[in-house]
Amino acid sequence: MAYDVVVIGTGPGGYVCAIRAAQLGLKTAVVEKDKTFGGTCLNVGCIPSKALLHASHLFEEAAEDFDKMGIKLSAPKLDLSQMMKFKQEGVDGNVKGVDFLFKKNKVDAYIGKGKIAAPGKVEVSTGNGKTETIETKAIVIATGSDVARLPGIEIDEKRVVSSTGALELSKVPERLFVVGAGVIGLELGSVWRRLGSKVEVVEFLDRIIPGMDGEIARAFQRILEKQGIKFRLSSKVAAIDAKGKTLKISVEPAAGGKAETLEADVALVAIGRVPYTEGLGLAEAGVKLDNKKRVIVDDRFKTNVQGIYAIGDVIAGPMLAHKAEDEGIAAAEILAGRAGIVNHDAIPNVIYTSPEVASVGKTEEELKSEGVAYRVGKFPFTANGRAKVNRTTEGFVKILADDKTDRVLGVHIIGADAGTLIAEVTLAMEFGASAEDIARTCHAHPTLSEAVKEAALAVDKRAIHM
Ligand code: FAD
Ligand code: NAI
Repeated sequence: MAYDVVVIGTGPGGYVCAIRAAQLGLKTAVVEKDKTFGGTCLNVGCIPSKALLHASHLFEEAAEDFDKMGIKLSAPKLDLSQMMKFKQEGVDGNVKGVDFLFKKNKVDAYIGKGKIAAPGKVEVSTGNGKTETIETKAIVIATGSDVARLPGIEIDEKRVVSSTGALELSKVPERLFVVGAGVIGLELGSVWRRLGSKVEVVEFLDRIIPGMDGEIARAFQRILEKQGIKFRLSSKVAAIDAKGKTLKISVEPAAGGKAETLEADVALVAIGRVPYTEGLGLAEAGVKLDNKKRVIVDDRFKTNVQGIYAIGDVIAGPMLAHKAEDEGIAAAEILAGRAGIVNHDAIPNVIYTSPEVASVGKTEEELKSEGVAYRVGKFPFTANGRAKVNRTTEGFVKILADDKTDRVLGVHIIGADAGTLIAEVTLAMEFGASAEDIARTCHAHPTLSEAVKEAALAVDKRAIHM
């Protein structure tokens, strides 16, 4: 049977693309090599990590904060296998949801590894050496990404783990060693610290979360250190010896020098992710990759080969589920003859630690290096009424606006619910709003969002509660 579109991969990029294509009347199929739909995000990424972040946060709150509000409990006890069950139920519910949506939208699903046999032909290995060839007008590559590995360090997913193993440890490690102070290291490091691990993070660079606004990153590091996470910056892991009962980790200065040996029970390698195109037949099909092995596409998600498109983690840009989804929608609309676009300048980024960290648009460092004249408005949560009563006063909102036009160029928030607060300013940026527009918008009282309004007022040096 011939399709209009075959999407390879059912992560947030692929499944959303397929559903939108079907909504637009295109005959659509997906190909998925794994047992369940939903890709990295639903199975071993966003969803399970947020389940554990939520549960471990409440565990810590119950132990440390409830009595301050007059809620007396005996010390909470951890039932890790029940917490893992809770996580898995969240995953299963989401994964089943994708299956339901495929059926509802009449998207055909082929289970097996997909390979591009030629433009217009996808070969699916359905097991036991059998293959099935599907014909299609267009192919969308949505094969996502995989864990980046350190040369010479084997990930066994038991003691030396990637994020996947760190989401299903059967016991709280006494000492958790994290390689990489990026999003995964800090989110999953936070989970296990809250559940009782001593956490130490080694980072190659001289700062945490590269790419994030520097002032926010410094504040974030101080908060995490106060929570008990240790950092070794400008350092690298030379080797991990897993022969004995405890791991022996050899750490040396990033610039080279004397190595030190540290001991840990579990090591989490979280040094980034790499595009996944293994066995897809891209070289044979003539699809070009860039120097980071990402599929090269134009602004309409077209590769250099007629009829082959790509979206999500496998192409350039931030490796985020919502970026993949929006690209999936845009690609489907383009295939249906519409004008699908994604504004890559207004993609929010959230780290779901406590407090959360969220940003959209340019950092102060980027504006400086681009020579853009800007003004800064900042407002601390210590001066926000709702944060005061909730005792969530850590952090601040920072708005960067163009010096002449007042247009919002970037917003960076560290504080409770930052991931929700960022939505308002992302919308503002989509509409080309000025800081004055945000400042003149009525914000409900008492809410944390008033800190966003005050930061916008602060751009013009007229915050009220400071
Ligand atoms: P993927 O989700 O990786 O899906 C690709 C799919 O393609 C997979 O199902 C794979 O099996 C399939 N596939 C690959 N090759 C083939 C083939 N040849 N044939 C058939 N099928 C194939 N992002 C956020 O925005 N928010 C978060 O909170 C967040 N948390 C994360 C936490 C962790 C621990 C990790 C690892 C990632 C997290 N991410 C988060 C990133 C997010 O998961 C990815 O950006 C997102 O999943 C990318 O979507 P995708 O559709 O491009 O690819
Ligand atoms: P990352 O790119 O966020 O961070 C990797 C860190 O490791 C960087 O700070 C880097 O400098 C450091 N590093 C690299 N090599 C190193 C080495 N040899 N020794 C020590 N440090 C080293 O990658 P991470 O955390 O693995 O996450 C992968 C992707 O998953 C992210 O890019 C993100 O887009 C996505 N993700 C998103 C989440 C969210 O949106 N909340 C949550 C988790 C993941």
